[in-house]
Amino acid sequence: MAHGHHHEHTDIDWAEMAPLLESQAELFTSLYERAMAWLTDKQTEPGLIVDAGSGPGVVACLMAEAFPGARVVAVDGSEPLLERARARADRLGVGDRFGTIAGELPGVLDELDYPADLLWASRSLHHLGDQRAALAAFADRLAPGGTLAIMEGGLPARFLPRDIGIGRPGLQARLDALEEEWFAEMRADLPGAVAEAEDWPALMTAAGLRPTGTRTFMLDLPAPAKDRARAYVAATLARLRDGFGDRLDTTDRATLDRLLDPDDKASVHHRPDVFVLAAHTVHTAVHAM
Ligand SMILES: C[S@@+](CC[C@H](N)C(=O)[O-])C[C@H]1O[C@@H](n2cnc3c(N)ncnc32)[C@H](O)[C@@H]1O
Repeated sequence: MAHGHHHEHTDIDWAEMAPLLESQAELFTSLYERAMAWLTDKQTEPGLIVDAGSGPGVVACLMAEAFPGARVVAVDGSEPLLERARARADRLGVGDRFGTIAGELPGVLDELDYPADLLWASRSLHHLGDQRAALAAFADRLAPGGTLAIMEGGLPARFLPRDIGIGRPGLQARLDALEEEWFAEMRADLPGAVAEAEDWPALMTAAGLRPTGTRTFMLDLPAPAKDRARAYVAATLARLRDGFGDRLDTTDRATLDRLLDPDDKASVHHRPDVFVLAAHTVHTAVHAM
């Protein structure tokens, strides 16, 4: 996701991102459910599930529903997001076995009373400066036989055909390239940033765990996208424009502006060819007994 464009602007205001994080996770519910079904085969009856970097808790609540015998603890650096997580858990009737802990990962995991049978971290590990050390800390908080599952990587999402009839074909691929640059700057600017080759199973092995599988889950919402998907596409493209629209050439910038203008028939709010195609990868490893 794009959140800034200069080195000094890679700091992310997570609380401000709550609506986007929530609507994205809600739209991606079927993907998360399939990932969870896959995890159920590996970890049949977890007693304690920890969601590290839970954000507003959409996935943590899905886990509470997928594992009715488990207690779920959502951990995040943003207290406002955890408030939303607790409200969601109450709304869904799982609040009695749902807790939150606010603080900086990975150190805050020391506050857990018990080791986790399942520790899930989706799209949060890459926001920590020292990913190797973070994985070691995650591994340290696992119960014997417990599973660590991280969602990292996959494919850049696609929302539009290559040629959309306006501007120059291939806009999304060019946005991807800018987002990669932004991502590299974001990582370099993190406190205690350490460059690390992103071989997740190898890093999990180095943390003393035994990798048990890698699987990619797709979200495939074909055109014409429904309102919820369109709103997500518009919010995502708006963040990219705010984050690094000034790095686009004038043609691409004008195309992006048209795509985001609700009064323009060619915008993502109206055009019939909008879809959501995304692929997220989950890597698992087990704490050897
Ligand atoms: C991209 S969001 C992912 C949210 C959720 N796991 C999901 O998949 O939708 C990253 C989350 O990690 C949290 N986070 C980032 N850096 C953190 C840190 N150093 N300590 C604790 N939480 C952090 C943010 O507050 C945010 O909620």
